[in-house]
Amino acid sequence: MIIAIDGHSSCGKSTIARALARRLNISYVDSGAMYRAVALFCLKKGIDPMDPVHVVQALPGIHLKILPSLPVRIELNGEDVTDEIRNPEVSKWVSEVAAISEVRREMVRLQREFGHNNSLVMDGRDIGSVVFPEADFKFFVTAEPEIRARRRYRELQEKGIQVDYDEILSNLLHRDHLDSTRSDSPLVQTKEAILIDTSHLGFEEQLQLVLQYIQKS
Ligand code: CDP
Repeated sequence: MIIAIDGHSSCGKSTIARALARRLNISYVDSGAMYRAVALFCLKKGIDPMDPVHVVQALPGIHLKILPSLPVRIELNGEDVTDEIRNPEVSKWVSEVAAISEVRREMVRLQREFGHNNSLVMDGRDIGSVVFPEADFKFFVTAEPEIRARRRYRELQEKGIQVDYDEILSNLLHRDHLDSTRSDSPLVQTKEAILIDTSHLGFEEQLQLVLQYIQKS
């Protein structure tokens, strides 16, 4: 069984996806973490994320290992970068890196490998449209931008990362725009995807809603 959860930045999709995977006892893969790891690699190596030629040249040196157990960990060239990829500096540049077709091709190949012999929940932007168009269930998750920004602000503060609310909101809007307008695999709600607006739903309500759709069919 493949469950695809796509949607806007910070809408709560990874929280739903993780809980769903735990409830159904299947794997969870956070595809955004993979793009974040590529962006982190570029920042560490001083490669300009706006320079596609150098980003693509760096790809053969990037080895990602995703451990689809819970809690999910991601390794970049043998180093655990699970926490580091959430830094605001990575959030700032990740959508630029993710818009590069060669980067996407490589990430999609890895993502499909996971789905080969595994039942899983995968969240991202193009999971139902490109990575697993034949997914058994597709959800499109969104929420009002200010609510998403407030959630992300709280999440980072709880981790002890000092952030500015306005900067978070503008980063979300910037990424929404880039992710939805890029030419390769833009963020879209496919016609089969069930829309979940989490703006005014608590976490348990979101999970129940998704579970109802899955158990109904
Ligand atoms: O957690 P958050 O919603 O902030 O984002 P994420 O899921 O970690 O994804 C980070 C970025 O990676 C997105 O803004 C997209 O630019 C890119 N991404 C993508 O292009 N395709 C995916 N399947 C997943 C993420």
